[in-house]
Amino acid sequence: MKRVITFGTFDVLHIGHINILERAKALGSHLCVGISSDQLNFSKKGRNPIYSEKQRLKIISSLRFVDEVFIEESLDLKGGYLKQYSADILVMGDDWTGKFDMFSSQCEVKYLPRTPAISTTEIIEIVKNIE
Ligand code: CTP
Repeated sequence: MKRVITFGTFDVLHIGHINILERAKALGSHLCVGISSDQLNFSKKGRNPIYSEKQRLKIISSLRFVDEVFIEESLDLKGGYLKQYSADILVMGDDWTGKFDMFSSQCEVKYLPRTPAISTTEIIEIVKNIE
């Protein structure tokens, strides 16, 4: 029974988030999700998330494919998180292809295709432009 781990901001939840979490869980029996802290999100994306880390943690932990959640404080701690949560498989969307290959000695690393034509950034832009 494999333990799967994935990471992301998961701000303004959308179908792409649901699809990747559903497919990640299908690869094993336990899914753990590292949710980017507000600070980490700011450093990655240059803006504050719409929903706070506490809210995002609660939303993601309420999904039926998700067994465990934690706040990811820093990208540099990834190897430590894989160990701490005993990950057998690391899953990321294919926008990250190649970026986590250095962890393939620790666990299997899989990049899953992103759901086309939707992202949190796009949703924010659409909502901003509604007159
Ligand atoms: N994801 C996906 N399909 C999408 C959007 C996101 O599979 N259409 C995946 C990402 O590849 C990542 C996870 O969902 O593994 C969390 O991504 P996140 O960055 O939180 O979502 P985005 O919508 O890409 O956010 P943003 O627009 O702010 O970059």
